Amino acid sequence: MNLLRMIKRVILKSGFPPSKRVDFCNALLSLGQWLKANPAPIHLESREKLYEYVAGKMNGEPFDYIEAGVFRGDSIRYWAQLSSCPGSRFFGFDTFTGLPEAWHAGLTTFKIGHFDAGGALPLTQDERVRFIKGRFQDTVPDFLRTYCRPKNLIIHCDADLYTSTLYFLASFHNVMTAGTYLLFDNFSVAPHDFRAFSDYTQSFCRAYDVVATAEVDFEKIAFLLK
Ligand SMILES: C[S@@+](CC[C@H](N)C(=O)[O-])C[C@H]1O[C@@H](n2cnc3c(N)ncnc32)[C@H](O)[C@@H]1O
Repeated sequence: MNLLRMIKRVILKSGFPPSKRVDFCNALLSLGQWLKANPAPIHLESREKLYEYVAGKMNGEPFDYIEAGVFRGDSIRYWAQLSSCPGSRFFGFDTFTGLPEAWHAGLTTFKIGHFDAGGALPLTQDERVRFIKGRFQDTVPDFLRTYCRPKNLIIHCDADLYTSTLYFLASFHNVMTAGTYLLFDNFSVAPHDFRAFSDYTQSFCRAYDVVATAEVDFEKIAFLLK
């Protein structure tokens, strides 16, 4: 038996848990390489500026905004006031009882149930806003059975977790036709959003342009899907 095969067997039989730190470092290295290869044409100082920049691309036309991860509704409410069109619609998906699994966000871990809104939907007077309560894996299939996308569509991923984000992206694949804007709130919180985005775009052969980034370490990012 050669040395590499022996090492493989020892590791396989060790029963040690995989290292989250190694995962984290590798994800950062991959993201660093990706950022070098995909420079953003514009970098903005805050996520609100990023939202305004992308909303400006709608040219005053109505659009659908679909948010994965709502919590108390700060970002979806901000988006709703960016469009005065009666035909715009805002859909927010969340358990409203917090993260369904622990979020190992590199240097910090957030426990199951973090971002618990007590099961309550965010308050809004805007009738164009609709909340879909439950785990994406339980609510999205039903939603998609009747959903018809309009000309302009923006999808915002802010679910923090790799599993949730990948599930959402894969489920909305047929809806996210060319011309869809796709945003991430935690792109550089390795190895979650970036890994989900990479796995989705590679597995589904999706091409994209980077539209803009925002905040430190390119944490927020917007893409135009092709
Ligand atoms: C960071 S918070 C969203 C914050 C919000 N977008 C904002 O900026 O105001 C992330 C949310 O994702 C939700 N979430 C994560 N995975 C989910 C899943 N699989 N199904 C439903 N909700 C999920 C959590 O419940 C949590 O409220």
